Amino acid sequence: MPDWHRDEDGLALRVVLDGCEHLLRADFLRGSMGYRLRKGGGRGEAVARAIGLKKSATPSVLDATAGLGRDAFLFAWLGCPVIAVERQAEIHALLADALKRAEDDSEVAQRLAGRLQLIHGDSIFVLEQLASGPEAACPEVVYLDPMHPQRRSAGTVRKEMRIFRGLVGEDLDAERLLESALRVARRRVVVKRPRKGEPLGGKDPAHMMEGKSTRYDIYLTAGLGNARDSTSAVD
Ligand SMILES: C[S@@+](CC[C@H](N)C(=O)[O-])C[C@H]1O[C@@H](n2cnc3c(N)ncnc32)[C@H](O)[C@@H]1O
Repeated sequence: MPDWHRDEDGLALRVVLDGCEHLLRADFLRGSMGYRLRKGGGRGEAVARAIGLKKSATPSVLDATAGLGRDAFLFAWLGCPVIAVERQAEIHALLADALKRAEDDSEVAQRLAGRLQLIHGDSIFVLEQLASGPEAACPEVVYLDPMHPQRRSAGTVRKEMRIFRGLVGEDLDAERLLESALRVARRRVVVKRPRKGEPLGGKDPAHMMEGKSTRYDIYLTAGLGNARDSTSAVD
């Protein structure tokens, strides 16, 4: 049973690691996420460029691996309509609480304008449903940031990541998720990888965008039969 904790900063999961108690929570407005937003709102970040976000283009995004919602929140903050799907129940609860707290701030709520929607469920199922539904309901971009096998020794991995990994495991079905995403995205699928990691499932992307420690692999889907909206401003 998860050990829930609530204080003035919202909902958290209380976890013991190396004999010490830690609180895991999602928070969009404080800490590193708040800093990221204050520092220009993230438009120039590699992840924003990878999904094709520009002043003139705010593509619809399905974030199929929402986690603590940092990427999803950033996309919505920058103007994209976002559906964020998380299958792990505790992580989804933290995410929902963080979104509610963020929207309690009227300025934030006004800027987000309800663009970030959360779903608790498995994205493979959600994508299958979309694939069999109307084309217009499919997102332009599907974004994937699955957990990847741990390469570094436990000592060098950030505590939050170790706690998170203990809860969600390793996303061993990520290759299947990529296959489903490629069938649904109208413009592109973007996969976040470790900078030196193999492409997911050994599948070579059309473009790679490198950051300091991460890489974004971009698979273009327009023209593959599921390019349902060639008039989009995203390229
Ligand atoms: C590395 S985290 C994502 C972090 C996130 N990008 C962020 O900005 O906070 C991966 C998350 O994806 C979730 N996940 C993986 N496969 C999924 C699937 N098929 N459906 C829904 N959630 C999934 C995991 O439970 C985990 O919480």
